Amino acid sequence: MSAPTETKLWGGRFTGATDPLMELYNASLPYDKKMYAADLEGTRVYTAALEKLGLITKHELSEIHRGLKEISKEWESNSFVEKAGDEDIHTANERRLGEIIGKDIAGKVHTGRSRNDQVATDMRLYVRDELKIIREQLVSLVGVMIKRAEKEMDVLMPGYTHLQRAQPIRWAHWLSSHATFLANDLQRLDQVIERVNVSPLGCGALAGHPFGIDRQFIGDNLGFGGLIGNSLTAVSDRDFVVETMFWGSLLLNHLAKMSEDLIIYSTAEFGFIKLADAYSTGSSLMPQKKNPDSLELLRGKSGRAFGHLAGFMMSMKATPSTYNKDLQEDKEPLFDNLVTASHSIQIATGVLSTLKIVPEKMQAALTMDMLATDLADYLVRKGVPFRETHHISGEAVHQAETNNLSGIDQLTLEQYKGIDKRFEQDVFKVFDFEASVERRTAVGGTAKSAVLAQLKNLESQLA
Ligand code: ARG
Repeated sequence: MSAPTETKLWGGRFTGATDPLMELYNASLPYDKKMYAADLEGTRVYTAALEKLGLITKHELSEIHRGLKEISKEWESNSFVEKAGDEDIHTANERRLGEIIGKDIAGKVHTGRSRNDQVATDMRLYVRDELKIIREQLVSLVGVMIKRAEKEMDVLMPGYTHLQRAQPIRWAHWLSSHATFLANDLQRLDQVIERVNVSPLGCGALAGHPFGIDRQFIGDNLGFGGLIGNSLTAVSDRDFVVETMFWGSLLLNHLAKMSEDLIIYSTAEFGFIKLADAYSTGSSLMPQKKNPDSLELLRGKSGRAFGHLAGFMMSMKATPSTYNKDLQEDKEPLFDNLVTASHSIQIATGVLSTLKIVPEKMQAALTMDMLATDLADYLVRKGVPFRETHHISGEAVHQAETNNLSGIDQLTLEQYKGIDKRFEQDVFKVFDFEASVERRTAVGGTAKSAVLAQLKNLESQLA
């Protein structure tokens, strides 16, 4: 048995020493110190509210604020010295404040506050600010995709379903498709930020504030958009962590799917794109290799992001009201998700702004069978029901195949008339990829006008 420990905030009622492994197991400082600025800011505003209540004097407040600034400088210059008993960022900062301005004044900052409302506040401030940075990064990624699509509007390529050649599309249409997913992520992000940005501060450990603190004043001064309306909820709600991780997981899913396309397009078999050296690596054994590691990592990290989300959902499940230490398990997965999302967006931006396309290869991959639907549509325009034209066009594909022709454009007019007498000389106009693409002018289609409209729409979503 050792004497009541002086180094711990909650030392008063404890007489036994803590198992050293328990210290390590319990400590969150190694990872929650990235929230030092949010923690100091929360204390700055909270103590201003205490002064308004007359619980601390003007002089004490200015001393506290002086101390907080000092601590901030230490963190920024990497000179903050962590000490034994610094369990987390909250205890570390408060301990240091006492050393700088004296324990008599520093001992007042936690009046009516608990680490429960404090940590929830720090997390929300930190996540809000990180998400705003990520938002800007995502805006520039979508911007790069729009620019690229505008510049390379004339390039055609095969569009796929089931990874089988289906119909010709514009490369810009492919870009616009992935940009549309990401623009939805952007919209979703704004909604998530709104729910992250609400204030739990002033709710105490769980039951509320005993001195009638002005929570609105605190919320306004921390830039929160509103207050959490129930103190029990305020200290225990980690839905914003789940939502943020879900947001990141879905974003990563979108980047992974786009990467998968690009990996396929970069193979020698396809050869549609060439990745810049900056985003490729070589093989340690095979000198000829150039591997799309950037894209593979983008694809792989989606698993990691979702894993964190699933893991934390399990930690949350069945925790009783209100704060429980299980909640400390929110930080590592969340912080990792934020870093992963941010890095992945930046890498995707780099990849997409530097890769080179090979239009000849895309063009060469277009085959006449991809116009079989257009052939069916030709007869639709002459009044034949589509179910019938589908069958007739299928017969043309079959005849071209059995006659060993290179495509349906090689059948003669006589052969076409043999299949259906409604075919005329103008049927050969169907066998033009550009014309096929240009017929798809309806909203969302691959015609130039339709793709340009999509890009304009995307641009306005970024504004
Ligand atoms: N480090 C803790 C966390 O991240 C802070 C809250 C501690 N609260 C408590 N009642 N032990 O959750």
